[in-house]
Amino acid sequence: LVERSLVLVKPDGVKRALTGAIIDRIERKGMRVIAMDLRSLPRELVEEHYAEHQGKPFFEPLVSFMLSGPVVAMVIEGHRCIEAFRTLSGATDPVKAAPGTIRGDLATDVGTTVVQNLVHGSDSPASAEREIKLFFPDLA
Ligand code: CMP
Repeated sequence: LVERSLVLVKPDGVKRALTGAIIDRIERKGMRVIAMDLRSLPRELVEEHYAEHQGKPFFEPLVSFMLSGPVVAMVIEGHRCIEAFRTLSGATDPVKAAPGTIRGDLATDVGTTVVQNLVHGSDSPASAEREIKLFFPDLA
């Protein structure tokens, strides 16, 4: 089952120059990058992307964090890549993320209200479709 997923290297990952290491892990796992760019996100896009978290205590810190620098946005493709990328990312909390995962190996808890965890990946086929349309409306 070939799927597509939206992946973001968040501002902490871009600032720490981990984009190459993250892409390397995606490709070595057998997934392909089919669209990608470095961009500064408009606030409205971040708020829409994270609409399900509106009202949560970390929502504003999350939006500010995502606006704190450019992100690398990409669409990846591969067999069951939505779940595969989430497995590769590890748990949301970098302290709990297993060694061997992107977050487990590379992310550190920095003690802020929002969890800064290097990457975002779509969590379901419905989210992937919505998020890819939001970030890459022209992708066929
Ligand atoms: P992401 O997969 O991009 O989806 C929502 C983001 O909010 C998540 O990664 C974290 O960066 C952040 N986040 C999720 N849960 C919490 C939480 N309980 N406290 C703070 N930040 C969170």
